[in-house]
Formats: sequence, structure tokens, C-alpha cells
Amino acid sequence: MGAFAGQVAVITGAGIGIGFEIARQLAGLGAAVLLNDVNPTVAENASRQIAAAGGTCQPYAGDVADVATIRAMVQHAVEAFGRLDMAIANAGLTYYGNFFDYEPEHFERVVNLNLRGSYFLAQAAARQMRAQGTGGRILLISSVTGHQAVPFLSAYGMTKAAVEMMAKSLVPELAKLGITINAVAPGATVTPRNLHDDPDYVPNWARVVPTQRVALPEDIANAVLFLLSPQSHQITGQTIVVDGGWTVVSPTPSLDFVNDSSD
Ligand SMILES: NC(=O)c1ccc[n+]([C@@H]2O[C@H](COP(=O)([O-])OP(=O)(O)OC[C@H]3O[C@@H](n4cnc5c(N)ncnc54)[C@H](O)[C@@H]3O)[C@@H](O)[C@H]2O)c1
Repeated sequence: MGAFAGQVAVITGAGIGIGFEIARQLAGLGAAVLLNDVNPTVAENASRQIAAAGGTCQPYAGDVADVATIRAMVQHAVEAFGRLDMAIANAGLTYYGNFFDYEPEHFERVVNLNLRGSYFLAQAAARQMRAQGTGGRILLISSVTGHQAVPFLSAYGMTKAAVEMMAKSLVPELAKLGITINAVAPGATVTPRNLHDDPDYVPNWARVVPTQRVALPEDIANAVLFLLSPQSHQITGQTIVVDGGWTVVSPTPSLDFVNDSSD
């Protein structure tokens, strides 16, 4: 019996990358997982992989920028597994673009998935948890770009800062129902998408991260699973940053005059 046995989770954008790892770990610890991805084949393959390892996992294909899809997905989780205990709003669109050329349709795609998708997943999940009277866990995925400016990610960074405020803003209405809502803000993380965009992603980011390494999806999933666990019941409205220290360091000129005995 795993730590999440008897519990049901729904997770969005989980066919690959960080979301897949969260789904894999949850199912490995006994949760029944409804795994969403906009790409049906990707959702199917990911669920099959988790089920082959002994987990309980079903695919749910659909675009979670769409509120009707979100509501149908939560309904489906309840019909398939009988209840809902955890909702993880992982799907997010990272759309790079020069501010001067950024088009309204790009802005809308980013905002619709990152904000509307997260907000209405939280709402659909919280309605179900309130009806059950069992409490629950809602987990939002933010980003270090919601803390520190990264060039060409203005719209994306704005949505991620807003996601963290979403977690705070919903505490007054959810806490009394036993529902916690928190966020995890990953820093540079090795995922297929990042390696596709930049084949040198790992060494490039390792050079600027204090721990001298990029995160693996497991590093992000570890923090997420803690916030989903019963041990975190007194933590709500918070964000855990998992970035190897990147956000806490600001660029400085050379400090060669300091004798650093740790070198
Ligand atoms: N990878 C990183 O370095 C990093 C860093 C900070 C934050 N994040 C955040 O972590 C989350 C996961 O990032 P990732 O890099 O693992 O994901 P990703 O970009 O690799 O996408 C994962 C999956 O989401 C699916 N998806 C895309 N749009 C969707 C939609 N509208 N509805 C349903 N599914 C959709 C894709 O098909 C894909 O299989 C995102 O919210 C992202 O913003 C990632």
C-alpha cells in the first residue's frame, strides 16, 4: 500500500516532462490517476507506460484551456474512480517572443492555458471536493519566470506570477473546506521540449545555476508530492521554488578581492 492508496488525482499536460513524472510517482504510490494531454496519442502512451509499471492510470485527451473540457475531465475522473482528492494544474504554454512583435493571439493562447486552465481546474476540483466533504489538494505549477525577468518570456512570466497569487487568493474560500492550494515554481528543468529548443540546454543552464546543475523532472515531482501529502496539511497559499538557487542570486561584478576558501 503506497502513501496515496485510495486517492484519486487528475493532472493536466502530463503526457511528457514534469507532469508525466508527477503522474508516474503518484501512481507508483497507489493513487488512481487521470492523465490529461492535448495530444491523444501522447496521453495514451503515457498512461500505458504507467499502467505497465503496475499503476492505475487512464488517459484523458483534451485541451485544458477550454473550460468545458476541464469540467468534463473532472466529471470523468469521478465516474472512473469514484472521487477526487488531488488536482494538479500542470499544463502550461511557454511561448517565447520579442515584446515588440508579440501578437494578441499569442498572448491569448498563453493566458488561456496558463491562467484560465489553472483557475477553472481549481474551481472544478474544489466543487467536487466540497461536495464530497473530504478536503483535498490543489497544486498549481508556476515558474521561476514569475519571480525573475527572463528575456522574451514577458507574457509567460506574468501568468506564472499570477498563478502564485491565485494560490494565495483562494485560501480564504478553500481552507475552511480542508482544501489546500499551493504552487511549485520549477527553474530550468531537463524536459524533451527544452532539449528540443536548445540542444545545449543542460550545460548552458548548469553554468548559471548555483548548484551547477539543471533540475530533473524528479526534483520537481518530489516537491509536488510533498505538497500533495497529508504531511503538508498546514501549508496553503505557498509556493516552493525548485531551482538550485537560481532566483536568489543576482548578477554581481567580479568579486576577485575576496579570498574564497571554498574554491
Ligand atoms: N520545463 C521547464 O524547464 C519548466 C520550468 C518552469 C516551469 N515549467 C512549467 O511546468 C509545467 C510543465 O512543463 P513541461 O516543460 O514539463 O511541459 P511541456 O511543455 O513539455 O508539455 C507537457 C505536455 O503538455 C501538453 N499540452 C500542451 N498544451 C496543452 C493543453 N492546452 N491541454 C492539455 N495538454 C497540453 C503537451 O502536449 C505535452 O505533452 C508547465 O506549466 C511549465 O510552464 C516548466
